[in-house]
Amino acid sequence: MTNSSVVTVTHEGDIAWVEIDNPPVNATSTAVRAGLTAAAQQVQGARVAILTCAGRTFVAGGDISEFDRAPEEPHLPDVVQMIEDSETPFVAAMHGNVLGGGFEIAMGCAWRIAAPGTKFGLPEVNVGLIPGAGGTQRAPRLIGMQAAIDMACSGKILPAETLLDLGGVDQIAQGDLKDAARTFAQNLPNRPVKVRDRVVAALPLDEYAATETALKKRAKGQQSPILNLEALQWAALPFEQGQPVERALHLKLRHSVESRALRYAFFAERAVSKPKLIDGIEPRPLNQIAIVGGGLMGAGIAMACLSGCLSVTLIERDNAAANAARTRVDGLIEGGVKRGKFTVDQQADMLAHLTTTDSYADAADADLAIEAVFEDLDVKRDVFRQLAAVIGPDAILATNTSYLDPTLIFDGMPNLSRCLGLHFFSPAHVMKLLEIVKTPNTTPEVIATGFALGKRLRKVSVLSGICDGFIGNRMLAAFRREAEYLLADGALPHQVDSAMREAGLPMGPFELQDLTGLQIAWANRKRQAATRDPNERYERIADTLCEMDRLGQRSGKGWYRYKDASRAPIRDEDVEELIVAYSKDNGLPRQNFTPNDIADRLLEVLAREGQQIVDEGIADRAEDVDVVKLFGYGFPRWRGGPMFLAKAKRGKAA
Ligand code: NAI
Repeated sequence: MTNSSVVTVTHEGDIAWVEIDNPPVNATSTAVRAGLTAAAQQVQGARVAILTCAGRTFVAGGDISEFDRAPEEPHLPDVVQMIEDSETPFVAAMHGNVLGGGFEIAMGCAWRIAAPGTKFGLPEVNVGLIPGAGGTQRAPRLIGMQAAIDMACSGKILPAETLLDLGGVDQIAQGDLKDAARTFAQNLPNRPVKVRDRVVAALPLDEYAATETALKKRAKGQQSPILNLEALQWAALPFEQGQPVERALHLKLRHSVESRALRYAFFAERAVSKPKLIDGIEPRPLNQIAIVGGGLMGAGIAMACLSGCLSVTLIERDNAAANAARTRVDGLIEGGVKRGKFTVDQQADMLAHLTTTDSYADAADADLAIEAVFEDLDVKRDVFRQLAAVIGPDAILATNTSYLDPTLIFDGMPNLSRCLGLHFFSPAHVMKLLEIVKTPNTTPEVIATGFALGKRLRKVSVLSGICDGFIGNRMLAAFRREAEYLLADGALPHQVDSAMREAGLPMGPFELQDLTGLQIAWANRKRQAATRDPNERYERIADTLCEMDRLGQRSGKGWYRYKDASRAPIRDEDVEELIVAYSKDNGLPRQNFTPNDIADRLLEVLAREGQQIVDEGIADRAEDVDVVKLFGYGFPRWRGGPMFLAKAKRGKAA
């Protein structure tokens, strides 16, 4: 018997098979919930119903795009309860991912069997929510409070094998899942007590407090992990009391700025990887990558390419530098093995695909060459001249420059349509962001190939036009400038840093400058001096520190001082006096700023600069700017990004 287009019921003897088929991930859309409601009626009379999913996974979550609308009937909690109360008991036969609403449905079934390696999770916390269909109420009853905390508060994914140990699944299916489900159904054990009727104790108060403290520390301002913990405690109440409170909080949270920000980030991340410019354009295949310069960035890029199963030829200035580059890449791979990221076999395979050399001729077969030499226009131009002499006329040429204008770097190259910027972030094998910089000559096919490379290296790629610092470093420069204005206007470095940490950033602007060093930004400011708008406000505090050789942690002092190896920033009276004297000398009255004043001013400036970047056509949309901040600069995902945040503050966020 066939019914709804997404849920089908077929009878086989006394077994009713219920199949959800809602590609790509069988999300619990309105149609699926309606289909399951009908199916729960249609299975009546059968001895047992087996719930399965078509395609590559069981139900892997809710339909996030529905969360902006008013909830539509039938509601998932009612569907789960209908399955749980069905006269004909349900067996969930699961494969792939059993996430969110999928796990909630499975917990309503009388039994659960899973293919080996099936993954279970309650990832609602990742979109600022708590489960809304009994997830926090049934999970502690089914698998115990601790495992439920791991899943709901941290979004931890547990394999079926762990669930079996915890009593969350009854069997790991050997061989074909449907055959195993059929065999299970033919030998049904006694129907167990419904999960919602089981009893679980609340966490004792001291354990609750310790868990909450640990979660708060990790969440850095995000609320949903703590709200999930609170909801799990309600599982100690009778289900009829706990479940409605869970549902009410879930529905309320759908409108929270945090949840909207996280949902926005989810869609933004996907949207930026498909810019209009490359719509329908086939990327070129890539196998052989040449990298020139095996320093900090070049070695990281080589490592990223090798772990993306590409062959790498790393070119250095001379033999000794080539050997040093190999040692650097070796070290990175070895580190990956130690952390369990690669096996020893994978290590050997990666090393077999790495050539280090001082000869450009070895790059002759490369499909793509990435330059990562010193940040010096003449050095870079010379590298590309040498590359162009040996490499194929169509092979793609990319620069990893941070600030230089790629059109100047490539000027005079044969076939400019193959040239682009591929701006990795440090450490290049770790950081997720890749800025793909188009020049006026780059063809969509070459840009599409850049995006394909990004995907292969598991990066989040964002298209950028050309401006000083591209999207990310230009935003950073504006942020630092404003932070320095704040110092001149009355704040001190530690006040700015702690305000920004409170706002969710991993570090404040001054401690971060001390960590990475003040000299690169100083060199940039000197380079820009000749073309700087004379009417632009310019404060010289950072320049003065650099002139005093206070270049950050590596020189032992910067905005702060540092004692021995502990690297903890210590407030430095000399710097604070210098700042106060600077304000006085320049006739700037020193004001008192609250942490909120500081955060508002700095976040606003990021949003303003971001808008400017979009208006100039450097970035396609606000999403591109936000994704750059999220993946390149540790901007808290639960705040969406500076552009989202500014819009939300004005009450206009989606
Ligand atoms: P680095 O100084 O660590 O490495 C540069 C390497 O290039 C050195 O190993 C040097 O021997 C080699 N080199 C210099 N001239 C060469 C030539 N003619 N032929 C072959 N090799 C040559 O510098 P780093 O930090 O790796 O930066 C490289 C590039 O990446 C620069 O353009 C920089 O602006 C950019 N970048 C740096 C980031 C960072 O955080 N360090 C982040 C993103 C981009």
